[in-house]
Order: sequence, then structure tokens, then C-alpha cells
Amino acid sequence: MATKSHPVTRHVVSINDLSKSEIETIFDLAQAYLTEYSDPNLPERIGRSSNLAPNYILASLFYEPSTRTRLSFESAMLRLGGTFITSADPTTSSAAKGESLADSVRVITNYADVMVIRHPRDGAARLAAEYSSIPVINGGDGSHEHPTQTLCDLFTLKKKNKRLKNLKVAIAGDLKGSRTIHSFVYALARFGADIVPMAAEGMELPPHVDRRLREEFHCNFVPGDGSIDALYRTPEEPHQPALFSGPDFELSVNVPGGNLSPGEEAVQRRKIDAVYVTRFQKERWAEAREGYPKIDAKFLKDAKYSHASVLHPLPRVDELDASLDSDSRAVYFEQAAYGVPVRMALISLLLGLQRGKSLRKFEGGFEAEDVPVYDQPLNAGIRCANANCIVHEPKESPYVRNKFHIVKSESDKGCRLRCLYCETDIDRFFVASRKNKWYTDDTSELLHARDPGIKDFLAFADEADAVNRGFHSKRHSAARASQR
Ligand code: NCD
Repeated sequence: MATKSHPVTRHVVSINDLSKSEIETIFDLAQAYLTEYSDPNLPERIGRSSNLAPNYILASLFYEPSTRTRLSFESAMLRLGGTFITSADPTTSSAAKGESLADSVRVITNYADVMVIRHPRDGAARLAAEYSSIPVINGGDGSHEHPTQTLCDLFTLKKKNKRLKNLKVAIAGDLKGSRTIHSFVYALARFGADIVPMAAEGMELPPHVDRRLREEFHCNFVPGDGSIDALYRTPEEPHQPALFSGPDFELSVNVPGGNLSPGEEAVQRRKIDAVYVTRFQKERWAEAREGYPKIDAKFLKDAKYSHASVLHPLPRVDELDASLDSDSRAVYFEQAAYGVPVRMALISLLLGLQRGKSLRKFEGGFEAEDVPVYDQPLNAGIRCANANCIVHEPKESPYVRNKFHIVKSESDKGCRLRCLYCETDIDRFFVASRKNKWYTDDTSELLHARDPGIKDFLAFADEADAVNRGFHSKRHSAARASQR
């Protein structure tokens, strides 16, 4: 008898949950909505509503302040002909009574057809997705990711430049705390753009993000001229020399060390196509910081920015001068306007409203390697190293486990553990075998383990933990065995 197959519920927690072709499909549909429903006087503004999603309900569940993300999602749902229910303030919902996210999500699943969630904890959206039978869209989780902002950013860049490949994009400000930046750099790398990090002091990209760019998305790091470092994506097809000549080509280049390949030098000399600015994410830092960079007319006077679009996810505070608003390079209000058509397209595709070609294309997911998961038994061994991860939220403790992707290390033969929720990596840890009673720092033991054998292993953050749990060093056990 044929069994009825249930469609898998798709969630968009990370930008990497979407394949490149799905992202292109979202853009095609967003453009189609703009063409059909825009305001004749303001082409970036959706000015009319459709009847594509009658009776569908969006739930917006926001545990942190929001203007653009929540309102543009709700506007998008209304423009599709649907409706929304909202919990915009955690002080007025059951969260204030101590309800866990896992419980709230299980309840809201029955009240709506799609859910967007924003939360101060990294990894909260992935936890929500685990407990939801309707699609969960991450509207920003701590400093982890903000994938739909990236969709708006890429859509804006693509409309301006007609392509993403080989664009040279500078990212300025708080690269550590900005979730928008983290989703954005993954996407830029996957679409073959070059990334120029311009971090405020002490606010560089987190090590795990930097490493993923290099190891998983094959970016090469090109040393810069002191103020700028370039991450240069290793081309599958070599960069075309013709792209680097002509009026957009800056001839003076100052490379310390001077040992770059011709391709790397060419990337370094190209002008910047876009500058993406973010505010100091004060809610993610314990203390205020001095000397945050400011993008203003003086900064943009440098010839390398002569045609650079200026993007900002907004809100801005002091880091982006209001005098730039009338500069033709400023596109941040347009970028915010695209929040409506882009989110209409995403909702529509997740709900399967768009029958036909685009629906068929929206199947599958990020074509990534299927990395095994290590599920740490409760109350034993290693926990996520990120103190802001949802796994450390006391309210969620009955509903969350320490789960890690086992990721092969490029630098040695071992592996690292990547938290399934916040995606922070643990590089050094100890592996213990319950059956053999030994522990070792050779993490390759775990790399090759598969179900059910993987259940034999425990991971510990340090040696003392393993010893306290009654394990002996594998080296010592082996030496003892050879003496016998
Ligand atoms: C961003 C966010 O919430 O991460 N805002 C937004 O959604 N457009 C950026 C920010 O708050 O700085």
C-alpha cells in the first residue's frame, strides 16, 4: 500500500538553509511582485495588495525590539491577502510568566501557518524550528544570523549591479555582534563576491565565521594595505582580467609583503562596489566602546568608493551620517523598502502559494555535506562554548540538549564540534569511550563514528572532566597494556 508522504516543513533559520537557486527564485518572485503590485510613483514600494494568501495567518513572535523586520513581515502578509497575529512585546505575553520558548512555539504552531521569530539568544530560532510543525523564519537570533535581512541586502545589491559574482563588498563596523553581517558574508561568499572586512577595533568577525568562510566557502584571505583586509573568494573560474581594467581600476596599490598572486593583486586594486555599514550592537556587549567608525561624505571621498552603493540594515545611530541620505550612492531606504516584496516572496514560497515553475524550483535546501550530529547525554560532558546560546537559557533546559555537528577540521586530522543551535565551534576537546573507559585528545575517533557506535562516545571540554568521570588516558592505558 502506498504510504502518504508528508511534505517536510521547511524552516529558514540560517541563510545556509536556502540553496543558491532558491535564493534566486525568491528574487525572481520578489521582482514579479514589484512589477505587478508596486506604487507607480515609487517603484521600490509595494503599493497594492493581492489575493494570493487568503485566510493564511502569519504569527510574529518578537522577544526583542523591531521596526523593519516585524512590520515588513506583517505588511508582506497583508499584501499577499493574508493576515497576522503578533506578540511584539515579551512583557505582555506568557514569556513574562516564565513560559519557555519551546512551549510557546508548540502552542502558536496551532494558531498560524507560518511563524517569524526574533530572540536575544543565539540559536533560539533553531530551537523554535525543532518544536514547530509550521515553517519558522528567523527574524534575528542574538548575534547569530538574520537571513531575511540578507535576502533584502542581496536583492538590493543585485538590482544595483545586475550580478553578485565578483562584486567587492566592504563590511564596516561591529562585525562580531551583528547578526546581519554573519548571514550576509556567508551569502556573499557563496555567490562569489569578494569581502573586505573593515571591523571596528576589537569587533572582528567571530573566529568560527571567519573559518567557515575560508574552509567551507573557500575564501582566500588577502592581506590588505593596513586599513583594509580583503577576503577573496577562490574562483571556480579564474577572475576575468578584463573585469579589472578600465576606468574602475585603481592603479596605486600598496601591499605589505608584496607577495600576492596576480589574481589577488587585481582583487585588491578593484574599486569597492558596496559598503555595508552596521551600528554598534550595544545590546550584545557588556561595555560601551570608543572610536566606532563613521561613514560620511569625507570617508566616501576616497576614489575607491566613487561608485560604491552604501547599504545599512538600519536602524542607524551615529555610524552613518544623515548628510549621505541625498547622495546617489545611498540605497539603505530602498533596501528597507525591498523588505516587503522579498518577504512576500519568501512567505509565498514557504506556503506553496506560487504553483508551477517557482514552486518546483523551491525544493531541496542548501547542498551541503550531511554532517553527523553528536547528541551529548544530559548532565555529562561538553556544553556549547557560547554563553549566549539558547542551550544555556534555564527556562529551556528541559527542552534542549547539547547537540553538535561533527565538522572535519581542515588543519589537522581531527574534528571540531559545531553547536547545532548557535553554530559556534569548539576546537579542542577530549573524546572518551564508555566501553573502553579511555579518553583521548585525538578527536578523529569521533569523526569516523556513526550511529549507533557514536553513542559509545562522550566529549569533554577538558581532561580533568574526563578523569573525574572515571576515564583513563588512552595513551596510559595503551602503555600499561604493552607492559603486561
Ligand atoms: C538589524 C537587526 O535587528 O539585527 N535590524 C534589522 O532587522 N533591520 C540591525 C540592527 O539592529 O542593527
